[in-house]
Amino acid sequence: MSPAQETNSGRYYVGKSEHILKTPSCQELNGQVNLIMTSPPFPLNSKKSYGNMLGDEYLKWFTELAPIFAEMLTDDGSIVIELGNSWEPGRPVQSLLPLKSLLNFVSHPECQLRLIQEFVCYNPSRLPSPAHWVTVKRIRTVDSYTRLWWIAKSDFPKANNSKVLRPYSERMKYLLSTGRYNSGKRPSQHKIGETSFLRDCGGSIAHNLFELENMDDNRQVRLPHLPNGFSFSNSNSNDFFSQTCKKKGITPHPARMPMGLAAFFIEFLTDSGDLVLDPFAGSNTTGYAAARLDRKWIAIDAEEKYVEQSRIRFQDPALTNQHQ
Ligand SMILES: C[S@@+](CC[C@H](N)C(=O)[O-])C[C@H]1O[C@@H](n2cnc3c(N)ncnc32)[C@H](O)[C@@H]1O
Repeated sequence: MSPAQETNSGRYYVGKSEHILKTPSCQELNGQVNLIMTSPPFPLNSKKSYGNMLGDEYLKWFTELAPIFAEMLTDDGSIVIELGNSWEPGRPVQSLLPLKSLLNFVSHPECQLRLIQEFVCYNPSRLPSPAHWVTVKRIRTVDSYTRLWWIAKSDFPKANNSKVLRPYSERMKYLLSTGRYNSGKRPSQHKIGETSFLRDCGGSIAHNLFELENMDDNRQVRLPHLPNGFSFSNSNSNDFFSQTCKKKGITPHPARMPMGLAAFFIEFLTDSGDLVLDPFAGSNTTGYAAARLDRKWIAIDAEEKYVEQSRIRFQDPALTNQHQ
């Protein structure tokens, strides 16, 4: 099986993941993948251009990915799956399919997987959906988040939250500069010691909610610091990828993962030199973030047309030769 794209840091294969991952080139990586970071095709009610399955067919397919993915992982590896909501066809009712799919995946009887933590990615600039019920009938609110399930084979997958700290709040900076605050018992019954908060750790611990843009202009959004100047949002139409796609008349992948999400989990859950797999890679957001963070990557997508977008990512001058 030869890759459609190969760089110093990784390989991009074209084909269905459930088949590609069983070929000898991928099987030799069994037990060596430190992180599977992916945004699978969402379970939709009508087929989109990237070939989503529907209903029970989706559920069965998704569940059967669990043993294939689990086999690839190191014992302390992680799987992070981003999945949005879907809605019942023609009804203002949220579908249970995404949740059922994740539940079936994590509780697959052969795999010993467990949910380590759920994250929510809130994106205020998403288009109003489900459009008919939100904008015409006005009886539902805008579905504006995706969820990410961090899954692993052990209770203690490799992780280090001190690598993905958030900037301190203005209040905390003030407190650190004055070295004084109100210690003692809080109404919540928590006892705050006299020096509990006075050590500058370089930032505060990340939350499991990512707010991609300000919900409120008067409130400071504090997303984790990402190395290499990565930003959380995809809205930058001036970046190298968007500009090059435009010049070449290529429509960028319609469901790209926010680069910052990939960068956050790669930095949080892996070390330099580790191997990151995205079995539904599309434009290869994950592979690009992995390369820039000095990790190795494997990307797979069923659609050949997305390899060109991955090639564009790897022409980005922000990548040094060593990381390509
Ligand atoms: C939500 S998109 C991923 C987008 C990607 N994270 C990015 O940032 O560009 C899901 C991708 O899964 C691919 N896909 C669908 N079924 C697949 C399968 N069985 N095996 C591999 N890829 C598949 C689609 O072609 C699509 O590009």
